[in-house]
Amino acid sequence: MCGIVGYIGKGCAKDVVLDGLGKLEYRGYDSAGIALLDKGRLAVEKIAEIQDESNKSKISKLQDLLKEKYSDANVAIGHTRWATHGTPSVLNAHPHVSNDGMIAVVHNGIVENYSELKEMLLKKHNIRCKSETDSEVIAQLLSVFCADGLDLVDAMLKATGMMKGAYAIGAIYKNDENKIVGYRKDAPLIACHTDEGTFIASDMTALLKHSKDVYFLDDDELVVCKADSMQILNRNKEVVEKEIFHIDWNIETAEKGGYDHFMLKEIHDQPDVLEDTLSRRLDSNGRINLDGISLTLDDLNKIKKIYIVACGTAYHAGLVGKTLIEKWAKIPVEVDVASEFRYRDPLVDENTLFIAVTQSGETLDTLMALREAKKKGARVLSIVNVVGSSIARESDDVFYTWAGPEIAVASTKGYTTQLMCLYLIALYMGRLKETISAETEKKVLEELKSVPSKVSGLLKNEGKIEELAKKIYEKRSIFYIGRGLDANVALEGSLKLKEISYINSFAIAAGELKHGTIALMDEDTIVFALATQDELAEKMLSNIVEVSARDAYVVSITKEKNDFFKDASEMVLFIPECIDEVTPLLSIVLLQLIAYFVAKERGENIDMPRNLAKSVTVE
Ligand code: M6R
Repeated sequence: MCGIVGYIGKGCAKDVVLDGLGKLEYRGYDSAGIALLDKGRLAVEKIAEIQDESNKSKISKLQDLLKEKYSDANVAIGHTRWATHGTPSVLNAHPHVSNDGMIAVVHNGIVENYSELKEMLLKKHNIRCKSETDSEVIAQLLSVFCADGLDLVDAMLKATGMMKGAYAIGAIYKNDENKIVGYRKDAPLIACHTDEGTFIASDMTALLKHSKDVYFLDDDELVVCKADSMQILNRNKEVVEKEIFHIDWNIETAEKGGYDHFMLKEIHDQPDVLEDTLSRRLDSNGRINLDGISLTLDDLNKIKKIYIVACGTAYHAGLVGKTLIEKWAKIPVEVDVASEFRYRDPLVDENTLFIAVTQSGETLDTLMALREAKKKGARVLSIVNVVGSSIARESDDVFYTWAGPEIAVASTKGYTTQLMCLYLIALYMGRLKETISAETEKKVLEELKSVPSKVSGLLKNEGKIEELAKKIYEKRSIFYIGRGLDANVALEGSLKLKEISYINSFAIAAGELKHGTIALMDEDTIVFALATQDELAEKMLSNIVEVSARDAYVVSITKEKNDFFKDASEMVLFIPECIDEVTPLLSIVLLQLIAYFVAKERGENIDMPRNLAKSVTVE
């Protein structure tokens, strides 16, 4: 949830770390800090004040604070925080420094037994932690062990041996200016070494500028970073030979590229990335090629049930996936929220295919659900964006979404590329099992190929949607309704709106309205009615008439041919003609733009909404 960067080398450590933190600010943005080893001194600077009129980010303020200082320091670790334990304040911001001033630590994740460790530190060593955080105990433990004569590597092994929870850690020691030590358990940590030095980070985007060839630490591995070398060790201090991951992302894809916000840029990226996701999976005959995924007919025949498990937006993509797989491959699918799946003793065995859907590949709930399913014998296929991420590495097969870096907290291209993968998987399974005809496969593929240009066309609605946003941005409650696949898309549209505009928004299957929720409709209510499914269009029309009769302001979203929705709605937004199955790829684009422009009209911090972080690596 937070971001870590560390650097030791020939260059100016302050610049490298602050630049990296700037790239990671979307991971956590309530406070930030840096610790440097500078001519025998351990210096720490932090910033955490509430947003002021300058509207500057915490990292730019940290940059201002450090302008004239520490230019000669060659070792530094930095952190951008999303508060879990303790309020966002300078005291709680990282790096945390031990009471003897010898150790500085940055930490992502949670030390679950921190209260116990705090008590032990006080009783046994008379060390009282200053902050409200769980993370500070790591610095205090390391200092106790270093004071006892251990070097930083052994101290780290001893401290992590006492800790429970999930953590990525970077630590420096005043008496050893030649090292940064990193440690990973259930929270991502990446390392790379170049002629310039050694780098660690919690996220690839911080390292792109320096190298695209990186090592992903596995659980219970430690990295010893020196200016001229890097070593990854296991808990027995044996050197681990690891595979290099080449990350095919350009720095520009992690920049705003002239757009006001990353979210708008990423909405506009969709035609290109959807094209990429699709074309990478089509062979020269235009047929689906799962490229490296060994899902044979025998395998498929053994699968009695599929679980799609994910969180948030990825879960919403999974809901669409269920309809597609059941329709085309005729295999029963359950879709589950990862945080629930794990604790309800699901009926999983070796005849189960577990599909994890995740943009970051690091969402802890999804990772834990995956491990649970594996323990019970399931085969794991994951749909992941970030190459080499924990979920990708722990899966039997990975279907990458190829969306490129997604920086805005509100997922947009992440969702549509996940959908595209689910279309391809469902079609592929149907073809293998012969539960769909060659003509159906061909027809759907033709439709999918036309999606990128249709999405480009939909983006031309921006002006109209901006006008609509001006009318509705002050509303206090906004509903999204739909039937069939539209009900799934409604959930995603509503999530987009609430996470960046903070408007209380609710999505419901339109047929359910009359069972209670219609009581909320009045002249103050806005309803986005999705009516893209041909067979359900008339039923949706009735639902629209019902809510209009209660004075709700209805904006319908339907296919171009359904002109008759104009009479029943205040406004209609059209998607181009297509088969019903692919409408989610189109209607969501309008809902993303609606959420964006409403939040913009309200003056919210769109890319970094309050209380949220891009990658949720705590349970
Ligand atoms: O990285 P993941 O796809 O696993 O993330 C899952 C959710 O945390 C994520 O989709 C979240 O709901 C987004 N903020 C939605 O925009």
